[in-house]
Amino acid sequence: MNRIVPAHPTAIARAASVVRAGGLVAFPTETVYGLGANALDPEAVRRIFAAKERPDWDPLIVHVSGLEMARRLTTQELPVELTARFWPGPLTLVARKAACVPEEVTARRATVALRMPRHPVAQALLAAAQLPVAAPSANRFGRPSPTRAEHVAADLGDRVDLILDAGPTELGIESTVLDLTQSPPVILRPGGVTREELGGLRVAGGVADEVAAKGLAGPGMSLKHYAPRAAVEVFEDEPALQARAEQLRGHRIGILRPTAGNLYAELRRLDAEGADVILCVLPAGNGIGLAVRDRLQRAAGVHSS
Ligand code: TXA
Ligand code: MG
Repeated sequence: MNRIVPAHPTAIARAASVVRAGGLVAFPTETVYGLGANALDPEAVRRIFAAKERPDWDPLIVHVSGLEMARRLTTQELPVELTARFWPGPLTLVARKAACVPEEVTARRATVALRMPRHPVAQALLAAAQLPVAAPSANRFGRPSPTRAEHVAADLGDRVDLILDAGPTELGIESTVLDLTQSPPVILRPGGVTREELGGLRVAGGVADEVAAKGLAGPGMSLKHYAPRAAVEVFEDEPALQARAEQLRGHRIGILRPTAGNLYAELRRLDAEGADVILCVLPAGNGIGLAVRDRLQRAAGVHSS
């Protein structure tokens, strides 16, 4: 059965009813498609983990329709310099959680990740549901994030009750996750809001190296992540890539020329074309390039910046 429906007002109203009834709805945001459920219903939240085959130690982002709703979910003050400038938009704020947030959402952490998306369909859904909506990216765990409704259907099929389709997403890469429980705040995951826009805050990249060395996994730190079926190899410059391409003669090589907008769709396309190895020159680590670099390094199973 095809669960993809154009995101018209009647479909959005239906999606809101599904969320209120404890079901799962995939919806577009300005970053990637999310797999949403009622964040206050532990049973509904468990369904998200089951559908994605996501390990239970990886906490979910809670999407809110407004500041009032966000304030009910945290005991911490949300800095107005951040909310006024970046909300709604691709910035997720990690803050101490209020008691009403189920531990299923936060993977038993004392903190909750909050985000107010700016996509009109996401906003309409949140307004109609009148509930906070827990939503990770709507891909199978470890696969590239979905930037189109078809990607969601390919990964999740009938595990999701409804997929609201609003075409390709605007940014194509996930939100920036900023930890407000550290002072100064730390960027746990680079994303749609750049480090420069945030005033050059520290990125928790060194942590990923430590995790790799110890063979441990932490939230957002899984190294083989955002990955296609093909092996991904990353290079700092074109000559290094060409040299490797020479060595790999006889293999089915895919060359990836990534931007934030095409990264995930291209990884999926090269996979579908049957590439064994995907070769890619990393973009420079400034602006949105930092997020693209991060995802490529994770897809390749390395992380060095
Ligand atoms: O753009 C986005 O953020 C998309 C759209 C759907 O909103 N969502 C998304 O969710 O990318 P997900 O689950 O794929 O990634 C959430 C990231 C993970 O790296 C998770 O570990 C981290 O946020 N996270 C969630 N709650 C956290 C917490 N309490 N402390 C630290 N990290 C947290
Ligand atoms: Mg994800």
